[in-house]
Amino acid sequence: MDSVGLSLSLILLVLQWTHIQAVETYWAYRGSAGQSKWPEYFPDCGGSTQSPVDVETTQSQYVPSLGPVIPLGYSQSGNVPFSLSNNGHTVMVPLPPWMGLGGLPALYTAVQLHLHWGNGAAGASGAAGSEHTLNGQRTAAELHVVHFNSELYPNMTEAMTQRDGLAVLGVLIETGEETNQGFGNILNYLGRVRYAGQRVSIPAFDVQSLLPTDLGRYFRYNGSLTTPPCFESVLWTVFAETVKISEAQLLKLETVLYSSKPGDSDRLILEDNYRTIQPLNLRTVLSSFPTESAKVYAAGEVSAIVIGALCGCVGLAVIIRFIVKTIRFFKHLHNERIVVNRSTSSWDVLPSIRPAPMPRTKEPEKEQKQDVALSTTSDLGKREEPASPGQAQA
Ligand SMILES: *[C@@H]1O[C@H](CO)[C@@H](O)[C@H](O)[C@H]1NC(C)=O
Ligand SMILES: *[C@@H]1O[C@H](CO)[C@@H](O)[C@H](O)[C@H]1NC(C)=O
Repeated sequence: MDSVGLSLSLILLVLQWTHIQAVETYWAYRGSAGQSKWPEYFPDCGGSTQSPVDVETTQSQYVPSLGPVIPLGYSQSGNVPFSLSNNGHTVMVPLPPWMGLGGLPALYTAVQLHLHWGNGAAGASGAAGSEHTLNGQRTAAELHVVHFNSELYPNMTEAMTQRDGLAVLGVLIETGEETNQGFGNILNYLGRVRYAGQRVSIPAFDVQSLLPTDLGRYFRYNGSLTTPPCFESVLWTVFAETVKISEAQLLKLETVLYSSKPGDSDRLILEDNYRTIQPLNLRTVLSSFPTESAKVYAAGEVSAIVIGALCGCVGLAVIIRFIVKTIRFFKHLHNERIVVNRSTSSWDVLPSIRPAPMPRTKEPEKEQKQDVALSTTSDLGKREEPASPGQAQA
């Protein structure tokens, strides 16, 4: 009796445990286990330094000391074939341990690369599916090359839970005219891993051919894995330069793969496998190159307009004043028959109607403002009067 009860409760416990395990490990981009549910099963997904983020280029902080990232051994693909797999969430290529990344605070060892994309339902161009966005703009797709900090940790499993554990390269993908041979090394084999859980050997290739040519211009910030368990352990590098694949290549990525297994009753297309933008919160995105900062740009524009307008007004005032003086000079010549000493300038001919001398060198601004006021109020026939302090300020 007792042993039966014990066995029953044990079985129930095991059933419950496996059920919890199943619930905990299953996640999706949409539906009952979709993104809004991630934090319930993976607490880190509800953290405050999550990825991806929108990179507002004008808000990024230029740090001149951020040098280019240096791919190590990326081009030494070796004789061992790569493997390509569909894990139901993405298509992934594990990378050999001799590949790594320099130019970062530590030395990192390559682990794997994978892609994120949108869908091909909206027509030839499809719906964009990059994870990071630049100034709110989502590109067609995004490549992630994942590395772990091999200076501090023995392997990916250990590193992925540590703040300084991972470094991921983010490459934004757009469509262009030409077929991208580098990406062809992956995309040409998608038909062999259509269903979740499938894996195929593919020829090894130069991984650097997937990266943009300019590795010196990028955005850098501390974030997370963009899929559960969303550990906040990633030092992100998102390149400013995008890479281009053809429309046909993109369409293949968007339509060929299934997130379901071969035997599943529903065939679910593996599409829109990108996470929504996460709040930056207190983080600052750094940039390795000077971007035009919104604040500086606006301020620069405003001061350019102000200086330009001021110069224009002062110039106009000087010209008008000169014309007025010249006319008066000749009026005086004609009406009062003054014999003018040729060595005196027109300014000196009219001492009686000059305003009190201004200390020009000390207060050039006040002088300028008075000139501006003069240009708008002076009348050729009217006698010039000293501007009152009130007018000068206006
Ligand atoms: C990772 O390293 C830890 C610590 O050395 C070790 O216990 C664990 O088995 C390793 N995991 C893998 C997957 O190699
Ligand atoms: C990331 O966080 C570390 C501290 O954990 C800090 O030293 C580093 O400057 C941060 N990097 C960026 C790009 O914000």
